[in-house]
Amino acid sequence: MNIVFSEQAEELAKTARKIADEHVRPFAAKYDKAQEYNFDAARAVGSAGLFRTFIPEEYGGNGAGILALARVTEQLAQADSGFGVAFAVNALGSFPIILGGTEEQKQEWLPAIANGDKMVAFCLSEKYAGSDAQGLSVTAVEDGDDYIINGEKKWTTNGGVADIYSVFCVTDPSSKSRRISAIVVEKGTPGFEVKKVEDKMGIRCVPVVETHFDNVRVPKRNLIGGRLGMGFKHAMATLDYARPGVAAQAVGAAQGALDLAIAYSNRRKQFGAPISSHQMVQAMLADMAMGTEAARWLVYRAAAGIDSNPTDVTNSKLAAMAKCFSTDVAMKVATDAVQVFGGYGFMEDYPIAKFFRDAKILQIYEGTNQVQRMVIARHLIRAAGSLEHLNEYIPQETQLTYAEPGQAVENHNT
Ligand code: CAA
Repeated sequence: MNIVFSEQAEELAKTARKIADEHVRPFAAKYDKAQEYNFDAARAVGSAGLFRTFIPEEYGGNGAGILALARVTEQLAQADSGFGVAFAVNALGSFPIILGGTEEQKQEWLPAIANGDKMVAFCLSEKYAGSDAQGLSVTAVEDGDDYIINGEKKWTTNGGVADIYSVFCVTDPSSKSRRISAIVVEKGTPGFEVKKVEDKMGIRCVPVVETHFDNVRVPKRNLIGGRLGMGFKHAMATLDYARPGVAAQAVGAAQGALDLAIAYSNRRKQFGAPISSHQMVQAMLADMAMGTEAARWLVYRAAAGIDSNPTDVTNSKLAAMAKCFSTDVAMKVATDAVQVFGGYGFMEDYPIAKFFRDAKILQIYEGTNQVQRMVIARHLIRAAGSLEHLNEYIPQETQLTYAEPGQAVENHNT
């Protein structure tokens, strides 16, 4: 497949780079320390039209697509990984509406998101339901023309800052596959509150909160897609679209840490020479650069796949691969960058320590890397039928009569 960078995507990336240089990097340490949101940079992103990137043209966006979203996120994250997610999480929160919403819902909410007037959050995880996203307990119960929502969500990124929340609720506890529905809750709805702002190891410039729902009454027209029981599918489809974004955040973070390590190693002298002339440091820099570049192109491949064929079933696998690979790379590159900086790397006086702290969550949120490996393996195994022509090249004693899981297998050797 061809990966085509449109002129529009490159213009958006250039704009993002400028905002990162002027509004993000110089203030990254300040917002990290204070654990405060960088509203100035968010306003700059909004005025420059970057929130339009992930919104279709019919609803006030520019329809630039997922590859453009990845390019923009990468530039922002290169300056500050936390700000990268502060931007990208708006796409995560919007995708349930974009992918599953009715025409009226898209008209109602998307234009304000595209303009940067409204921020968005995605409320899926709960205290007892993280990787097992079907195990939710927040409920939405019908009451006349409304739903009444009760329960608590955990780790809502952008919580408090966001105006629109895509909330995944149990609407049919008796159903296995249709238990969950996604409902939009707007900031200020009575009974909806941010109760705990988490004190975090990294990405400290973006709030991650607990959201509490105490008899929150929302009109039935807020049910995403207008049909009950579609929530889990909306959540999974959303994550397929959003994971290249978090993967791009990781590529940006890895590049940011690598650039600092190169700059430092060229200036720092030991044994009478810049440490960049020492082969062991060179090997580290080379490995960091190889990992970052490989991750970048896997992210572009996953994103371009969604843009060119949004319903291709392999998009899910590629998104998981991009997320898992690039976030593992980011953690490794950030760790090695600290190593290159030596003692200075361990100190909070320089941004390299923050790159290290910010990297860890990349391997955890939007699906742990263990979950990504599970998604990838499930795709591989499901597609194994296409490899039957290779059966003559594998040991004959493994050619057992096929059995469904749990059934006895007829073993021809016995
Ligand atoms: N697209 C559409 N439908 C999908 C799908 C996909 N990618 N993946 C699964 N489904 C459907 C299946 O077809 C199945 O449908 P039927 O019941 O009709 O057959 C249904 O969903 C259930 O599928 P599974 O049996 O595969 O589901 P599972 O319970 O085994 O879970 C999982 C699969 C991959 C582990 C999933 O639960 C998962 O992705 N977990 C991680 C959740 C996650 O990423 N959470 C992070 C939240 S966001 C965040 O981190 C916070 C932030 O703010 C940044």
